[in-house]
Amino acid sequence: MSTIAIATAKEVFDLMIREDLLAIEQEFARACGAEVEPIRQMAAYLREGGGKRIRPSLLLLAAHALDYKGSSAVHLGAVVEMIHTATLVHDDIIDEADTRRGRPSANKTWGNARCVLTGDWLYMQAFRMALEERNFRILDLLIRLTQQMVEGELVQMELLGRAIGEQEYYDLIYRKTACLFQISMQLGCVLAGATPEMEAQLGEYGRNLGLAFQIVDDVLDLTAEEEVLGKPAASDLREGKATLAVVHALQHGSQEERAAIQMVLDDRSFARVGHARVLEILRHNGSLDYAMRTAYTYAETARTFLAALPQSDYKRALLWAPDFVVAREK
Ligand code: IPE
Ligand code: IPE
Ligand code: MG
Ligand code: MG
Repeated sequence: MSTIAIATAKEVFDLMIREDLLAIEQEFARACGAEVEPIRQMAAYLREGGGKRIRPSLLLLAAHALDYKGSSAVHLGAVVEMIHTATLVHDDIIDEADTRRGRPSANKTWGNARCVLTGDWLYMQAFRMALEERNFRILDLLIRLTQQMVEGELVQMELLGRAIGEQEYYDLIYRKTACLFQISMQLGCVLAGATPEMEAQLGEYGRNLGLAFQIVDDVLDLTAEEEVLGKPAASDLREGKATLAVVHALQHGSQEERAAIQMVLDDRSFARVGHARVLEILRHNGSLDYAMRTAYTYAETARTFLAALPQSDYKRALLWAPDFVVAREK
């Protein structure tokens, strides 16, 4: 048995792609070398903020699990991380967030106007890099993805303050988050020349993992501390967003409990009904547990879509990723 074979899944994950992830950082840094000083500065700030780099990790693991050997996985890994970064810049403007990754958000530091433009620039830089692959399939996936994510943010705005149903919630988080997880896996497949069946299976893995990821993100927004999250806590309700646990409580709570939650959604503030009272309602109805159980189910479902993948350490890392997603604290 190799040392890799006896390492823990987390170690396998790190070991298998560490060098590629470093190469992605370099590629990202090079891509941010704009001629215009403010863009250079803001792009560097965003990149240096770090982040979990989960989307490029998925792309790398998918490609390598299918025995891909070329340099395009690193190139496209940088592309998906740059697209993710652009969506975060715009998202923080929309959400009026003042922290991200434990630091002042870019909009807090440079203001909305500059950040809208930097987000646009990052999108276009990412597409320019994707274009270098000379592969219409890749562009098609990335363009559709970007439209889905923008649609997700817009749909979310339309639903603000409303007691949405579960299906509306899932549709929304697919667009805003799970779609990018799915496409990251699919891009790895495209590079490796995988069959359409394999691409569909691994795409489903990404979609289910992404749904679990956003459900957990939404639970953490309700329960975690800002110091741990590195971004504003308890912000969704203050923005009028009903996420899964809240949707559950709005369906199962008493009339008084439902009215209290609706009051927070209407007011977009905890002035009349405090955050502690909302948590009490969610706990009383088992709503946080329900959301976490649902995340576990999606994470578990994700794993089933790896069945057709040949055994390898990359596959082991992909099998471990769902545990990471549901157990994470930020
Ligand atoms: C934040 O994504 C946006 C969501 C989809 C919830 P991540 O939690 O992956 O952010 P970073 O890149 O690690 O900061
Ligand atoms: C995810 O939604 C945002 C994007 C996919 C851009 P959130 O608004 O919940 O993300 P955070 O919590 O700000 O990271
Ligand atoms: Mg946000
Ligand atoms: Mg959030």
